[in-house]
Amino acid sequence: MKKSSIKPDYETKEETKAGNYFVSNYPPFSFWNEEDVPCVSSLLNSPTKGRVPLGIYYHIPFCRKRCHFCYFKVYTDKNSADVRNYLDSTINELETYAESSYIKGRKPKFVYFGGGTPSYLSAQQLTDLTNRMKSVLPWDEAEEVTFECEPGTLSEKKLEVIKNFGVTRLSLGVENFNDHILEVNGRAHRSKEVFKAYEYARGLGFDNINIDLISGMLEETDENWDDCIDQVLRLSPDCVTIYQMEVPFNTGIFKSMKEEGRLTAPVADWPTKRKWVNEAYERLENAGYTITSAYTAVKNPKNTKFVYRDRLWSGSDMIGLGVSSFGHLGGIHYQNLTNIENYCASIEDQKSPIRRALLTNDEERFIRELILQWKLGRVSEKYFLDKFDISIRQRFADILSKWADRGDLSIQGSEYFLSRSALLQIDSLLQNFFLPAHRDATRYV
Ligand SMILES: C[S@@+](CC[C@H](N)C(=O)[O-])C[C@H]1O[C@@H](n2cnc3c(N)ncnc32)[C@H](O)[C@@H]1O
Ligand code: SF4
Repeated sequence: MKKSSIKPDYETKEETKAGNYFVSNYPPFSFWNEEDVPCVSSLLNSPTKGRVPLGIYYHIPFCRKRCHFCYFKVYTDKNSADVRNYLDSTINELETYAESSYIKGRKPKFVYFGGGTPSYLSAQQLTDLTNRMKSVLPWDEAEEVTFECEPGTLSEKKLEVIKNFGVTRLSLGVENFNDHILEVNGRAHRSKEVFKAYEYARGLGFDNINIDLISGMLEETDENWDDCIDQVLRLSPDCVTIYQMEVPFNTGIFKSMKEEGRLTAPVADWPTKRKWVNEAYERLENAGYTITSAYTAVKNPKNTKFVYRDRLWSGSDMIGLGVSSFGHLGGIHYQNLTNIENYCASIEDQKSPIRRALLTNDEERFIRELILQWKLGRVSEKYFLDKFDISIRQRFADILSKWADRGDLSIQGSEYFLSRSALLQIDSLLQNFFLPAHRDATRYV
């Protein structure tokens, strides 16, 4: 096998320790607070309608089984009455948004069903849910509708329903192709179900099929990872997303570590995880794919877009629906209550289900977009000058020259490009751009 060109860590320890590594937003969640929650309703009731593109994130918190590495808000013990009650609550929540003067008359440009496992719902539940959503806020102008699936929950009939209610981007949580690795990591599906689901989905003609993989699952090896990439290349999906395994505090893996008194997670260290992603990217590039972010490779970048990511990372509005959902409206971040009973009860009592929020200022919005766009591996000086009237070149001269000196940054015209090595550890480099008040903040979700 080709020798890896990945350099050692600059900022993190090499072993995988417990905690969050992935930077998904800015300012960090620990700065979001209860005091800013009323800002969201003030915005919604203000007479001015929002003018930036709008999207919806819909959270379905149900799974067949909780994976040992998972840190999302999920329930594995809910019955059909609980599910019905939850879906009703989310529709009430959507109605409140749709009636507000800030949202009224706007149409979503993107819709994202995430979880948890959206494909856990039955074909009938999905049909009813999406019909109701569309009657409250029509999606006929959506450029993309993404739907996350756990492969073992998909039948051909369910996929047909998913296609028919408008999904354009089908995302399959494959994670690995080895049945033993799937089992020891607590996944509910096996490889046979992946192949079946993929074949059905291809047959139905989805525009964009994405496969999620995780580099560094429990018991991962060089040989097995290589085999996973063989399988991906054979299937030839439109998009491949590769996450590096992190072990947050609310995972089953961390629980076992605590019981055993271990500080280091029993998964590969960061250089090994990056080496695996690098090998995957090199093989995907050789097969004609383009690397479009730290986490994604795309077969045909001209036709295969990821509207949700690109809109969100450039400051669009997004309504977050459902328990523990994250939203962003008019420069205000917010997150809903994280317990399903409390969430449903607050909707029933006609109270806001928002738990914490943060009204950001212009500088924080600038930094938020900058750190999110670094994850694309390229950043435009002109974009930030035009939008925020701030020159990255001047503002971050010291960081840029340090990165350029060590070969991690190149400049072409008004664009900055990251080396592959820096791109694969971008989440550990982003703290450099945080405002002093936000540095060293805990990054727990
Ligand atoms: C909500 S899940 C996708 C849909 C569905 N729940 C499933 O797992 O098949 C989103 C993705 O997050 C990734 N993920 C979950 N836990 C992770 C962890 N601890 N480290 C890295 N990636 C993780 C997995 O790749 C997973 O597919
Ligand atoms: S990784 Fe996906 S399937 Fe597994 S528990 Fe988390 S949300 Fe559910």
